[in-house]
Amino acid sequence: MSSQSEIRILASREELFRASAGEFSTQASAAVSAHGKFTVALSGGSTPKGLYHLLATMPLPWNQVFVFWGDERHVPPDDAESNYRMAQETLLLNVPIPRENILRIRAEEKNAETAASAYAQTLSSFFRLNSGEFPRFDLILLGIGPEGHTASLFPATKALQERRRLVVSNWVEKLHTYRITMTFPVINHAACVMFLVSGSDKAEILEQILENPLAHLPAQNVQPTNGRLLWLLDTAAARKLSPAHPTR
Ligand code: 6PG
Repeated sequence: MSSQSEIRILASREELFRASAGEFSTQASAAVSAHGKFTVALSGGSTPKGLYHLLATMPLPWNQVFVFWGDERHVPPDDAESNYRMAQETLLLNVPIPRENILRIRAEEKNAETAASAYAQTLSSFFRLNSGEFPRFDLILLGIGPEGHTASLFPATKALQERRRLVVSNWVEKLHTYRITMTFPVINHAACVMFLVSGSDKAEILEQILENPLAHLPAQNVQPTNGRLLWLLDTAAARKLSPAHPTR
């Protein structure tokens, strides 16, 4: 069991999106040739929009691409806050992907736990899991929040401790809402986890995550057990990383 961790610092936000689109494309082709399909979990928030716009212009094997989400806000799919809606508008409505290849979190469910259990069932049937097994995504995209959260795994929330379930609803006090999120076991079972981090407002937390092992921040729990961990950063986000940092 091994995991490779790699950090790449790109000269600009545009370069960051080009590099991440290149990775996405390379991994999609490799997965389709290796096992006939490419399974990817998208991230939400604002950072990946640039990547999704770029992917929409690229010739990808969309018939063999299966799209999932790492987390979702507890809102209907047409809500401005919806990660599904963002991905639809920036990517999925602009590419020839079969609708049945888009497996969204049904966050319109009144009870967030119902949405979480339903999505866990969606993963179990799609990946044909036996009890206790975890899905192996080809690629999981992640971002980080200002306090070190990733997906919807926020500091001091219950979901951080989950070791058995695939998807949970997670009450986030600071947002006064539930989120629906994949758990660390699912994230760490992926073949590749790719973080996209852009902007100087992320520099402080990124320094803590990558250079302070005692920080105990949620994003630090992303350690694929048998896969790649790829940090794609732009120079603004990486500005506080120590020069001694292996990648500079
Ligand atoms: C979400 C995301 C979340 C996001 C970070 C960073 O639903 O918000 O999945 O984990 O990646 O909050 O968000 P920004 O890219 O907007 O800074």
